[in-house]
Amino acid sequence: MTIDKELENNIISAGQGHVLQYWNELDESSRKQLAGQLEKINFAELARLIPEYVTSRPKTVIPDDLAPAPYFPMTPETQEQKELYARAYERGIELLKAGKVCFLTVAGGQGTRLGFDGPKGTYPIGPVTGRTLFAYFAQNILRAGQKYQVKFSWYIMTSLLNNEATTRFFAENNYFGLDKEQVFFFTQGTMPAIGYDGKLLLGAKDSLSLSPDGHGGTLLALRKSGALKRMEDEGTNIISYFQVDNPLIKMTNPLFIGLHDLENAEMSAVMLAKTNAYEKLGNFCVSNGRLNIIEYSDLPKELAEKTDASGKLCYIAGSPAIHLISRDFIGRLTSGGELKLPWHRADKKIPFIDANGNPATPAEPNGVKLESFIFDALPLAGRTMVLECDRNEVFAPTKNPTGVDSVESCRAMLIERDAKRLEKAGVCVARKADGSVDALIEISPALILDEEDAAKYVKDNNITCVKAGETLVIG
Ligand code: UD1
Repeated sequence: MTIDKELENNIISAGQGHVLQYWNELDESSRKQLAGQLEKINFAELARLIPEYVTSRPKTVIPDDLAPAPYFPMTPETQEQKELYARAYERGIELLKAGKVCFLTVAGGQGTRLGFDGPKGTYPIGPVTGRTLFAYFAQNILRAGQKYQVKFSWYIMTSLLNNEATTRFFAENNYFGLDKEQVFFFTQGTMPAIGYDGKLLLGAKDSLSLSPDGHGGTLLALRKSGALKRMEDEGTNIISYFQVDNPLIKMTNPLFIGLHDLENAEMSAVMLAKTNAYEKLGNFCVSNGRLNIIEYSDLPKELAEKTDASGKLCYIAGSPAIHLISRDFIGRLTSGGELKLPWHRADKKIPFIDANGNPATPAEPNGVKLESFIFDALPLAGRTMVLECDRNEVFAPTKNPTGVDSVESCRAMLIERDAKRLEKAGVCVARKADGSVDALIEISPALILDEEDAAKYVKDNNITCVKAGETLVIG
């Protein structure tokens, strides 16, 4: 095959002619692959992005009017709020029962920090049995389906890096008891990596160095894959969004869902009180009357550390990346088949093919990957809502092997949550002097989704005690 003339002209005018340097050496299938990748790139847009994000370093501009974002507190503070929360809870249940909610997991990331070779969702996080992250989510959905009498849909965003391995994993595990039709995989878009000289990097002679375009890519990928249309056909209009690294997610949170609806929000978010000024969470802020999230790495020190008269952090509201997003909002944002979210630059060590055709692995960062972030859609929403939640009930991210936000801390939090549910149901659970659980407990969400389920299970199965050193697996 020959390269399309118009495409070739676009590549050359954008100053990227080197990507065709090995064209004459390539066989047909390699040419097809490279041409296919190049066709998907908007070279005019790229020529605009490179000076802005690559050859110069974009500065995060902190608006002068930036202020901490308001939010609904975890516990209602006034009589009026009490009544609103009660109504919202009921409304949330109503919406769940009416099948208006679907689930969306973003699982396209590389998970480099965890050092795990495979899709992150296949990580064996269960404290006793090694139940995987995907299994936790699937079993949640199974039980929610029984409880609300609905066949919930689960949308899973993968990327070119892990789509095949992810879909294979689900097939091998028989969709964890869900119907195959309940699970809809879609693949996010890619962005080419760019060297510091503004030139696209080749990952091989017949391939650009491509990587996932960030979770902001979810929105357009939902449209392009037909997922949005599928949601419309099935009548779901609230998308419960969460990250693949958080098995503690309460994806059917009636209060959150109900408040989102009663507040007529287009996009809502859970907020957690940060543990310290530098906890690695995005920060909820407002500017120009719009809610936005400023990433932990971008919030200036003086704002991160700023406290009020009582000594409390002003920017206390951290984002665990748990959202509700209205389908109509995504439809509106992506209506022209395009979505304009800002890009964020990440400096990386990117393996590449050098000018002599040899593979090179740099020891220092040599280029930039560009990603968009889903939370940059918040300021575009007509209305938004933020609800404070108890971190011990909703957020245990698995990002690192040990330490903060790690496999260890995640397992400890899963055990603690399950122990608390048993204790509330009247079971005595052995604890150490420091208050931590002195047993290994793992409960399948397919059997116990919430406190109500725990109470029934404990009664039906006559569980009275979890002794020191005991291992208890339910389901
Ligand atoms: C993220 C948020 C941060 C939030 C924190 C909570 C960003 C930039 N920051 O941080 O505000 O407080 O989580 O845990 O996201 N993903 C894709 N495709 C991509 C990139 C990522 O699907 O192209 C998915 C990952 O699979 C993962 C999630 O997005 O499920 C988050 O990605 P990660 O890189 O782990 O974000 P963090 O820096 O941990």
